[in-house]
Amino acid sequence: MNANVEVTYKKRLDNIVEKTIEAIESSKEQIFDILEKAKEEARKLETQLEELKIQVINVIKEVELCERKEKKCRLKLAFVSKQFGHLSEQAIREAYEEAKEAQIELALKRREEKELIEKRNELERKLVDNKAIIEKAEKLASQISIALNYLNSDLKEMNSQLEQLKDRQALSVKIIEAQEEERKRIAREIHDGPAQAMANVLLKSELCEKLITKDIELAKIELKNLKDIVQQSLKEVRKIIYDLRPSALDDLGLVPALSRYIKNFSEETGIFVDFTVLSDYKRLSPEIEITCFRVVQEALTNIKKHSRAKNASVKFEFGMRFISIIIKDDGIGFDKENIGQGYGLMGMRERVEILNGKFEISSFKNKGAQIYISIPVRGVEDDQIVGG
Ligand SMILES: Nc1ncnc2c1ncn2[C@@H]1O[C@H](COP(=O)(O)OP(=O)(O)O)[C@@H](O)[C@H]1O
Ligand SMILES: [Mg+2]
Repeated sequence: MNANVEVTYKKRLDNIVEKTIEAIESSKEQIFDILEKAKEEARKLETQLEELKIQVINVIKEVELCERKEKKCRLKLAFVSKQFGHLSEQAIREAYEEAKEAQIELALKRREEKELIEKRNELERKLVDNKAIIEKAEKLASQISIALNYLNSDLKEMNSQLEQLKDRQALSVKIIEAQEEERKRIAREIHDGPAQAMANVLLKSELCEKLITKDIELAKIELKNLKDIVQQSLKEVRKIIYDLRPSALDDLGLVPALSRYIKNFSEETGIFVDFTVLSDYKRLSPEIEITCFRVVQEALTNIKKHSRAKNASVKFEFGMRFISIIIKDDGIGFDKENIGQGYGLMGMRERVEILNGKFEISSFKNKGAQIYISIPVRGVEDDQIVGG
């Protein structure tokens, strides 16, 4: 994807999600508003209900009193009625009036009681409805909070995943480029070495063909030359094959393969390399062994190409949980901030980090260079011990 287009897409996506979050946040505020109002209403209803309950209790008591009074009046009236002949008309009327008044008072109180109870029941119903609203609003508010959290954190996650994806894409491109570079190097090596030698062999054999009848001594010398060329290119072909995949690594394991490699390196370059293995050497998983081999190979190639060192050292330590390697030289060193375009150091780091290992370089101008690597080893217990 074009970088500009990618940026625009990302911006647009950010925009959409931001707007969504805003909308949800405003709904959340509204729900909190509703919730607050409902709670306020509930508080009011509760105090009203408390007051009403007291009123109901009082009115029930009052109704009881009225009932008692009315009964008394009724009994008195019945008594007065029986004594009809002996009591004054005035007294009878009074008793009658009293009984009637008590009856009316009782009826009024009973109505008041009924109304108050109805009002109380109504308030109780309202309070139940109100509590249901509060519960719903609370649930909704918490769900919205969860949704917001998801949106906020998932978005961040998505963005970091996008970044990682981009990094990985960039890495793939670099790996492909490095592979191409490697193929070019091998092609160049074959072209400059064995292919050149074969052309030479062809020329020399034609020369020998002509010389053999004319000057047998000269022909013998040329044949000797021919033999040297073939021998030399055989060596080169073997070296190319060895660089591609050291078969000793599969057959003998890391340490013997490196011993052989380092011996050849020293012979070829004249750089003395001290190879030390601390602790017992164990066979490791193939990917760890090949990584260690390639890292040492690249480090030594750099020493040959760039360092002008006379001495170097390669130290291995096979720990219980880690394998550590230190590669040092006494050459001109380099400024870490100022290294060229090469993929060597970068490739080493990548190989090591893929295996969750650590990779550190330390070097200063004219102070030599040092590479430190440590890779975690799994299933150490299962590995067979090959030698000391
Ligand atoms: N042992 C060393 N001594 C001095 N310079 C080094 C050494 N190793 C690496 N360098 C410097 O770091 C640079 C980057 O190395 P590398 O990534 O392997 O790329 P390349 O070897 O293809 O140039 C080299 O070009 C060189 O300048
Ligand atoms: Mg290099």
